Parts: sequence; structure tokens; C-alpha cells
Amino acid sequence: MADDNFGANDDFWLFGYGSLIWKPPPHYDLRVPGYIEGYVRRFWQVSEDHRGTPEAPGRVVTLIDRAHWETLVDEHPSPHLTWGAAYHIPQQHVAEVRNYLDIREINGYSIQYTPFHPSHSPADPSVPKPIKCLVYIGLPENPQFLGPQDPQELAAHILKSRGPSGENREYLFMLEEALLGLSPESGDGHISDLVSRCREIEGKEYKGDDGKRVE
Ligand code: BEZ
Repeated sequence: MADDNFGANDDFWLFGYGSLIWKPPPHYDLRVPGYIEGYVRRFWQVSEDHRGTPEAPGRVVTLIDRAHWETLVDEHPSPHLTWGAAYHIPQQHVAEVRNYLDIREINGYSIQYTPFHPSHSPADPSVPKPIKCLVYIGLPENPQFLGPQDPQELAAHILKSRGPSGENREYLFMLEEALLGLSPESGDGHISDLVSRCREIEGKEYKGDDGKRVE
């Protein structure tokens, strides 16, 4: 039997709070919107492999343990809940999916397990509540973990970065859209503030009547 906090279920569940929300892992058979507690989502992780390169790293989200975050100086407040989506992976695909995620995502993240609270009861009555989920988080000792960032500089950095998975701004904009699609309560002020800043910078970059970007 699993830890009592998680209910009696040893199935493999994965919590997505970044690109996993709109780009699910392979082989999942159940996707459940909901939230976890005790963490703070921040764009404080270097991306050298997806939204940047080793020479010009981009920025992606990570989760920071709330107790650690409370010791830091951060311009943005944080909601108590971190919204995202949990994915159930059938037993026969767990090894393959974990291997895929280790290649796709593990760069600079550490693994923890945490209770996930579905926003509404999944139709399948065998799904426990809360669900024990694997989550990738950023520990301060991870080399890709940056710590507090000035939001305006962060927005400007996101706008100029791109990597093998595409433009960094696309990651930010898609994350905001994906979060707003989870529930009426699932917005994240840190993310929407960065989106607003990016839109403002981009607006300023467009000059002239033809609407073309002035480089
Ligand atoms: C995600 O939820 O997209 C995610 C973030 C960091 C590492 C792995 C997955």
C-alpha cells in the first residue's frame, strides 16, 4: 500500500505544470486537471535544450519548494495552489515514459512525489484522492536553477530566446493559455504578468504604419 497521504494506489501518475499541460507524455490514458500545494511555479530555470541553446539559454518554469521560496525576495506574490494536469501512465508503459521524460525534461530538475488534488472527481471511481504524483522540481543546487529574476529583464530575455523546440515566447504564451483552460481559478499571476510585459515590449518594437517589426 502507498503512503496514507496519497491513498491506496501505486499507479504511476505524473504532474505537468509547464509544457506537459499542452504537450502530454506518450501513452497516457487519463488526464486530470487539478492542483498541488506547497510549491511555487517560477520562470527561474535555464533551458539549454528546448527554448534556448547552451550558448544562449532560454527560460522555462520550475517548481520551488514554498518553504524555500518564502526565504527569497520575489516581486510576484504566489497563489497557494499550483494548477496543472496529472497524467496516468498504464503500467506496461511506465519504464518507456520515464525514460522519455528523463531525456525530454530531466535536464536540471529533481524528482519528488506530492499529493495531487483533482479539480473534479474523475469518472473512474478507482482513482484515489489525492493522487500520488511524480513532479520535477528545481532545487537550488541544480545547475539550471537561477533563483529570483527581475520580471522586466526576464520578459526581455524570453523574447530574445529560442531553441530546438521553438521560440521561448511561444512557451510562455502557450503556458498562459493552457493554464487558463484548466479551470476558472487556474490563472497564475507570475505567468500573466510576464505575458503582459512581453506584449508591451513587443508593442513598443512595432513602429511605423506598415506594422512591420523594427529590428
Ligand atoms: C512540465 O510540467 O512541463 C515539466 C516541467 C519541468 C520538468 C518536467 C515537466
